Amino acid sequence: MTREEARKRIEKLREELNRHNYYYYVLSKPLISDFEYDTLMHELIELEKRYPEFFDPNSPSQRVGNDLNKEFEQAEHEYPMLSLGNTYSREEVMEFDQRIRKEVHEPFLYVCELKYDGTAISLVYEHGRLIQAITRGDGTRGDVVTDNIKTIRSIPLILHGSGYPDRFIIRGEVFMPFEGFNRLNQERIKNGEEPFANPRNAAAGTLKMQNSSLVAKRPLDCFLYYLLGEDLPTDSHYENLQIARTWGFKIPEVMERHDRLEDIFRFIDRWDIQRKELPYATDGVVLKVDSLRLQERLGSTAKNPRWAIAYKFKAEQAKTRLLSVSFQVGRTGAITPVANLEPVQLAGTVVKRASLYNADQIKMLDLHIGDTVYVEKGGEIIPKITGVDFSQRPPGSQPVEFVRNCPACGTPLVRKEGEAVYYCPNEDGCPPQIKGKIEHFISRKAMNIEGLGEETIDLLFRKGLVKNITDLYDLKPEQLSPLERLGEKSAMNIIASIENSKKVSFERVLYALGIRFVGETVAKTLARRFGSIDNLARASFEELTETEEIGEKIAESIQTWFSNPHNLEIIRKLKEKGVTLEILEEKQEETPALLNGKTFVVSGIFEHFSRGGIKETIEKYGGRVSGSVSSKTTFLVTGDKPGPNKLDKARKLGVKIISEEEFIHMLPLHKDQ
Ligand code: IVH
Repeated sequence: MTREEARKRIEKLREELNRHNYYYYVLSKPLISDFEYDTLMHELIELEKRYPEFFDPNSPSQRVGNDLNKEFEQAEHEYPMLSLGNTYSREEVMEFDQRIRKEVHEPFLYVCELKYDGTAISLVYEHGRLIQAITRGDGTRGDVVTDNIKTIRSIPLILHGSGYPDRFIIRGEVFMPFEGFNRLNQERIKNGEEPFANPRNAAAGTLKMQNSSLVAKRPLDCFLYYLLGEDLPTDSHYENLQIARTWGFKIPEVMERHDRLEDIFRFIDRWDIQRKELPYATDGVVLKVDSLRLQERLGSTAKNPRWAIAYKFKAEQAKTRLLSVSFQVGRTGAITPVANLEPVQLAGTVVKRASLYNADQIKMLDLHIGDTVYVEKGGEIIPKITGVDFSQRPPGSQPVEFVRNCPACGTPLVRKEGEAVYYCPNEDGCPPQIKGKIEHFISRKAMNIEGLGEETIDLLFRKGLVKNITDLYDLKPEQLSPLERLGEKSAMNIIASIENSKKVSFERVLYALGIRFVGETVAKTLARRFGSIDNLARASFEELTETEEIGEKIAESIQTWFSNPHNLEIIRKLKEKGVTLEILEEKQEETPALLNGKTFVVSGIFEHFSRGGIKETIEKYGGRVSGSVSSKTTFLVTGDKPGPNKLDKARKLGVKIISEEEFIHMLPLHKDQ
């Protein structure tokens, strides 16, 4: 393939993938199978790697995110990001309408939309390309989260059609649909991480993650509901959004124009019911004056526009009786109180249990057994108790006491200073903790041992065959096959899978060990920094906390883990069995000569490299470094404060000028593919 052919193919692939993204994520009408899509994407990524000169920050391949951990820059909003005045009462909606009619003496329309319960985002487009995404922040300045936003496939990186202004801003709500939210939380619980309380927190937390390749794995989506700019197509908010749809934006599916309050209330009533069938969270209805001219005339207060209001739906609530409280033990030993309730119908499901979070929450509610309690299902999937009807408290009822001893093994519980959670410290002897650790160890993202479910682990534990993770490596097929429901073939498969797990990379083994606060990302960082389990075990507190991302809490947890003789014994046994406990060198063998034939000039101060470091990297990948710009230069890589002479010369000679980030994107290791 010639360079020119490659350029054309890359362009074609980008176009195709953009089109498929739009059909799949905006119109929900996929034209091709996932497999076909992945094949096209794979081809594009490979070509872009081979021809880094055709790098484009808006290529669909950039939606996988990158592995750079960075603090977010901040940027000023060109138009302040106001919030909406909100109300739960119809009277206030009527008053809002009256205020407007006092000012506006001509016929006008309201647009009724749903109020999406996520986190607000402001997108800047120039010449049809997404150039910046800013969070709401304090309304005046927000975090620049462009890389994270690019991972949301329904947000167009390059616009379709025509007629869009040269520069405009479009705002909307980033949200996580229920299905993806539930999946994410199940995974977090399995990994011993704190689940998100509701999809809104999950969306906001995800947008603030520092590593966009992890964001890419979270199921975010976005509705865009507000256009801003100088040359918008029409005077109508409603029409403009319909037009924005043809540019590739996902605009609200539900939008109606009305001029009579009666119809507006009908819209509200209808959607208070129908919203329960939507696959994402909404918490009200937004009313907006349709005409931009009238919007401007009505203006804003310091906080809210006068031309819009949010009517909020009441969270669904039910009253029921608290029968008892049980205490569950997680794999990290954390104790979670759960309320057992008299079954009650709430938001379409029968609720029997509600989460109580921790001891403080129980105290705050002043809960007694037998109390009549209010349960709510707001954005939360697991209902929560929000209050007690004290007038119905049975005489002589007992306050709910948080257990002092572990409900599974009887060990006295401990609570660390500054933490809300009680823990069972008997890590190595408490059955649910041991079983939880084994389940975590074999899970897909850890050692990926297949064929062993929760029940089989329970059985193996009860029969005394597996008392900790190292015992897995001593299992024999003849011990497995007589177990309930396991045949000879499954037993052989399990043994083979256990054997295979010895080849799993060090970073995953480290994650699999289940050290508190060492999730996937932290494990990766630690593996890269320390290279082997022995180095990590020897690392001082300072060495740990000097590592990027590792704070005192994590460092302390790592040191505690390694100071436990039981854990050292586990490491010794894993080593004996041949599990990978260091980074294997062979991984580094193939440094592809990606930058072969290219000459670079570097200028300015770089964030991720020293001056020498960036030169070394270029040479490592086969590129040449030169001190001055000439017609032979392929790229000028600029950091902060680049030399003006070099810049001028590069511009004159038509040498491509790229940023540090663009340079990093040329390298193969920045992606988590
Ligand atoms: S319009 C100036 N429309 O609600 C008005 N906002 O407190 C700009 N929201 O920050 C916002 N759904 O995050 C608008 N259909 C919708 C909305 C919506 C949700 C959020 C948005 C805003 C907050 C208002």
